Amino acid sequence: DAIAARAGVIIDTMKSMEGPLLPILHGIQEEFGYVPQDTLPLIAKALNLSRAEVHGVMTFYHDYRDHPAGRHVLKLCRAEACQSMGADQLAERVKRLLGIDFHQTTLDGSVTLEPVYCLGLCACAPAAMLDSELHGRLDDEGVEDLVREARQ
Ligand code: FES
Repeated sequence: DAIAARAGVIIDTMKSMEGPLLPILHGIQEEFGYVPQDTLPLIAKALNLSRAEVHGVMTFYHDYRDHPAGRHVLKLCRAEACQSMGADQLAERVKRLLGIDFHQTTLDGSVTLEPVYCLGLCACAPAAMLDSELHGRLDDEGVEDLVREARQ
């Protein structure tokens, strides 16, 4: 099918690289926006791995999604500098506002919430990224604005 064909091209181009699994997963996620379940056996076969091994690597690195993301992806920094500036409380607030947990997507498909470990914006902690836009020094009002923007 179409997914297999598109994934096949990516796998073929990268399978002879050194340490090809992560680049292949990355390439597939770039192509589809997530890593479709159907591509796991194809990857496993090309790299001589078991499907469980591919799945294990995929879940170990939180960068890979097994479902399509929402229209917007909101990433909240959970690393140390942000933690010390109240990132946990902000995260709780965002989860409540969206009605979802990390790694989930709102029912209307508007927002996927993900944790991220340092956005390089530690001096402006707590920080978040909405799609590719960075936001620092977030307070309650700031995250509410972000959530509102994301839900559109
Ligand atoms: Fe959050 Fe660095 S710890 S941006």
